[in-house]
Amino acid sequence: MAEIELIEAFRNAGQDQVFRFFDELSPAEQAALLAEAAEIDLAEVARLKRELIDAAGDGAVDLEGLEPAPYESRPESGGDAAVWAEAFKLGEKVLRAGRVGMFTVAGGQGTRLGFDGPKGTFPITPVRSATLFQVFAEKIAAAGKRYGRILPWLIMTSHQNHAATESFFEENNYWGLDPSQVRFFRQGRMPALDEAGKIMLASKGSIAMSPDGHGGSLRALERSGSLDWLESLGVDTISYFQVDNALVRCVDPAFIGWHLDRQSEMSSKMVPKAYAGEKVGHFCRQRDRTVVVEYSDLPAAMQEETDDAGALRFIAGSIAIHVLDREFVRRLAIGGADVALPFHLARKKIPTIDSAGNPVKPTEPNGIKLEMFVFDALPFARNPVIIETPRQDDFSPVKNAEGVDSPATCQADLLRQYARWANAEGAALNLDESGLPSVTFEVAPSFGYDEPSFADSWRGRAAPISLEDQTVLS
Ligand code: UTP
Repeated sequence: MAEIELIEAFRNAGQDQVFRFFDELSPAEQAALLAEAAEIDLAEVARLKRELIDAAGDGAVDLEGLEPAPYESRPESGGDAAVWAEAFKLGEKVLRAGRVGMFTVAGGQGTRLGFDGPKGTFPITPVRSATLFQVFAEKIAAAGKRYGRILPWLIMTSHQNHAATESFFEENNYWGLDPSQVRFFRQGRMPALDEAGKIMLASKGSIAMSPDGHGGSLRALERSGSLDWLESLGVDTISYFQVDNALVRCVDPAFIGWHLDRQSEMSSKMVPKAYAGEKVGHFCRQRDRTVVVEYSDLPAAMQEETDDAGALRFIAGSIAIHVLDREFVRRLAIGGADVALPFHLARKKIPTIDSAGNPVKPTEPNGIKLEMFVFDALPFARNPVIIETPRQDDFSPVKNAEGVDSPATCQADLLRQYARWANAEGAALNLDESGLPSVTFEVAPSFGYDEPSFADSWRGRAAPISLEDQTVLS
């Protein structure tokens, strides 16, 4: 769109404040502002203003007919071992056939961690201080070796961290992965709106834009050509995980096999909530659809409800690990009013400028950010399945600098996992009551990235393995 037409479109949409200081800007600044403005879908902004701001009720989520979602357990949690062994075999078969691609969402801002740089560049392992990206790269490389396939890996970044993410991979030679197997793409952005639905400026020459949420990954996969890329490689199944979860089994044959066997378009892992008020989303059923209700939206009384055996009724906590069918993602990304992810609104402190162009650093929320969540794809999926997974094998996110879900808790969970694997092979490590070994050691994914691969390497060593403090098995 030509410059004049773009400015005109903003004026017609009642958004002319975006260009209020346009004449004061240098040509380069003007070009940058125009480029940002061109990213904005004005019709979408107008619709969101109408639906989310003007027509907002009391903000309460629709709880009518909400029931806990059914889920199926792995053998560790009481599931049928023979059926899971079949699923494992099927998963391995499709991995060997090259039908599976990995997908990491890494476009978040990581505000709570407060780390300067993309979250994936955070050092996490106990001895090598390998970063989150390195851990995933090594798991993917090791699984690729096991299945005799180059496993493609998609990484969604944000405008803010894209360049830093790519350079980090280059500086580290992709940890041995073939660069052509890794594809980075940026997620979309949304402008912040004020309470009147006006697009906010961050400065005279820039719009207050922020990433459109992990749910934005679905349309970004399509818009970036990544779905076509997967198709050209023969990949029809996507293993989705978050950049902050060092423990995740990014290549999980049993989960992949289960998803395919059930002809599911989107499968999810759940962990039983540790306590009623744990801050995770809840898998539920409502009007014959699977939905996730966030902890902030489910009344405390419902979170605390128990069944006859005294267990929490709404027990299935969402941990943001999914398997997705490629064409399901495409269907949602192309969308249409009845198959589109909804936006959620969050009132935040948004640095902006006043009408005279002076910077404003708000101390109270002054604007609205708009985000999509990936779990909102579930109601659109055919045959969605939820499986229970042991938390200790799949989930330990790095969210906060300290306390719960922090680097310290994640590192301890990694150590416990290494110790469990080693003791299962007869290492006889001393553990405290939380399962933490008395020596700090590390299992590089090249040695073992899950229990079976660890067992194979351990048994394959001619000499007995001794685990001293600071040992790295690789
Ligand atoms: P979180 O919801 O934890 O958000 O993201 P965050 O931005 O990383 O951290 P805070 O809330 O600012 O502290 C969960 C996962 O979704 C990704 C993140 O990178 C992380 O892997 N994500 C989140 C995106 O890729 N894009 C987004 O817009 C938001």
